[in-house]
Amino acid sequence: MQKDIISWFRMMSMILKYKDFLIETDENVYEPSDDTYLLLDVLEKMKIDNSLRVLEIGCGTGIVSVAVSFKVGSVVACDVNPYAVDLSEKNFKRNKARNAEAVNSDLFGNVKGKFDVIVFNTPYLPQSDDEKVSGPIDKAWDGGDDGRKVIDKFLLGCKAFLADGGYIVFLESSLSSYEKSVDYLGSLGFKVEIVGRKKLSFEELVVIRARLP
Ligand SMILES: C[S@@+](CC[C@H](N)C(=O)[O-])C[C@H]1O[C@@H](n2cnc3c(N)ncnc32)[C@H](O)[C@@H]1O
Repeated sequence: MQKDIISWFRMMSMILKYKDFLIETDENVYEPSDDTYLLLDVLEKMKIDNSLRVLEIGCGTGIVSVAVSFKVGSVVACDVNPYAVDLSEKNFKRNKARNAEAVNSDLFGNVKGKFDVIVFNTPYLPQSDDEKVSGPIDKAWDGGDDGRKVIDKFLLGCKAFLADGGYIVFLESSLSSYEKSVDYLGSLGFKVEIVGRKKLSFEELVVIRARLP
């Protein structure tokens, strides 16, 4: 195929199907992958009360928030990538997720209120400066030198945004030394469990749930 036709195809957004939902993708936004689907599986199996207030950090296409929105009271979805915020809003409308809204925010920066559940499929890849990809999609992977640049800030900030008895559910990897999160959250008094695992060829993905007593 001619080069210009190939790049035209790459620029086009696509629609993928997840369960009954149709999710539009965009070349500037992280496309749902193994990590997304592992997190979705875990959330699907979790007993979630239909009155809960949920915050998703790093919503990407909005696929996780769309799926969760039908099980809970309300969802605030945020992302530091403005393309992800616009795309999530589109996907909320497309799927009639009327209780979900998207906000442009660097972690908790523009988030107000307290939440019963905070969900985050984190950017956990160790990445040096010369491995950076151009554009805001780089934030989807960039975990800094040790993969923990964003995760550590998230863990430091989350307690202030959790309602009494609330919990966080987040995904990271053996590449970001997830045991450090388990130990740190334990030291803050959270009850910590690994609620999902998937081995891939070069890493193990884990989903961690940590609840405030
Ligand atoms: C691995 S992707 C996950 C996207 C989507 N939730 C999914 O599961 O397909 C990580 C997302 O976190 C966002 N992100 C990275 N750093 C962030 C930050 N400091 N604040 C908010 N979002 C951030 C990225 O832009 C990206 O959309």
